[in-house]
Amino acid sequence: MQDIIKAIEEASIKIKELIETGDTAKSEQENSTGDTQLKLDIASDVIIEDIFKTIPRIKAIVSEEQEEIVNLNKDGEYLIAYDPLDGSSLVDVNLSVGSIYGIYKDNFDAKSIIASVYVVFGPRVEMVVAIDDVKMYRLKKGKFEFIQTIVLNEKGNLNAPGSTQNCWAPFHKELIDDIFNDGYRLRYSGGMVPDLHQILLKGGGLFSYPGTTDRPKGKLRQLFEVFPFAYTYEKANGQAVDGFKRALEVETTHIHDTTPCFFGSNTEINRVLEVYKKNG
Ligand code: AHG
Ligand code: MN
Ligand code: MN
Repeated sequence: MQDIIKAIEEASIKIKELIETGDTAKSEQENSTGDTQLKLDIASDVIIEDIFKTIPRIKAIVSEEQEEIVNLNKDGEYLIAYDPLDGSSLVDVNLSVGSIYGIYKDNFDAKSIIASVYVVFGPRVEMVVAIDDVKMYRLKKGKFEFIQTIVLNEKGNLNAPGSTQNCWAPFHKELIDDIFNDGYRLRYSGGMVPDLHQILLKGGGLFSYPGTTDRPKGKLRQLFEVFPFAYTYEKANGQAVDGFKRALEVETTHIHDTTPCFFGSNTEINRVLEVYKKNG
């Protein structure tokens, strides 16, 4: 696993430079989810793929920005699904963005995830690695230095509600309103990496991206976004669910499948489960 973490560190240093100097324009291409790719999405995908190609223990990779699985080494052990640049449409306004990596064994599905890594590119570059526990590292003078172990409190005070209110189910809107009425603060940048990172570091709260009238299965992708963060939140003593069950029990039928998702500390997620059970 250490060789994979090292590869991610190396890729992140290059992506940091790309974000600082690269062209924020759109490309002519769309990815498999139908998003118009930015030149930065494509360039960061190439950086990661080129580095992963040099690691013999990686069996196959799949990127949010590519249609198909890329087979690398027949005798390799690990499968990696990654979102090279999550929140890339925020680069032109200079908000934080990130990369997300899910490390799987045998299959690209929830029950096969064995580790997860994300990297936040903000005023500072931080990498969070979840294996048995959740450890944060910060890039300092070209090296990632251990900073702290991350553990969520039982309850937090931040609320990050995804999508748009006019596409929410009435009971979902009521849940979010009730949470705000209980004194939670709105924290939503539109980038799941910094939004989820903030909730982890500030002790807890709720991030939601529900099924909506325009996207009944939500927007966030299972393999590249939801499962890696679900793994991290569980290892940090929090939870991740699809409204009814653990996100890590959601079935994958296609590599680009999405799912409704909720990440948070225990108090907030139990509240979501209760409301969804009554209304779902
Ligand atoms: P990506 O840039 O990889 O397409 O993903 C962006 C995602 C995620 O980071 C964020 O939480 C969500 O899209 C925001 O969506 P809404 O604007 O619909 O809330
Ligand atoms: Mn993304
Ligand atoms: Mn992306």
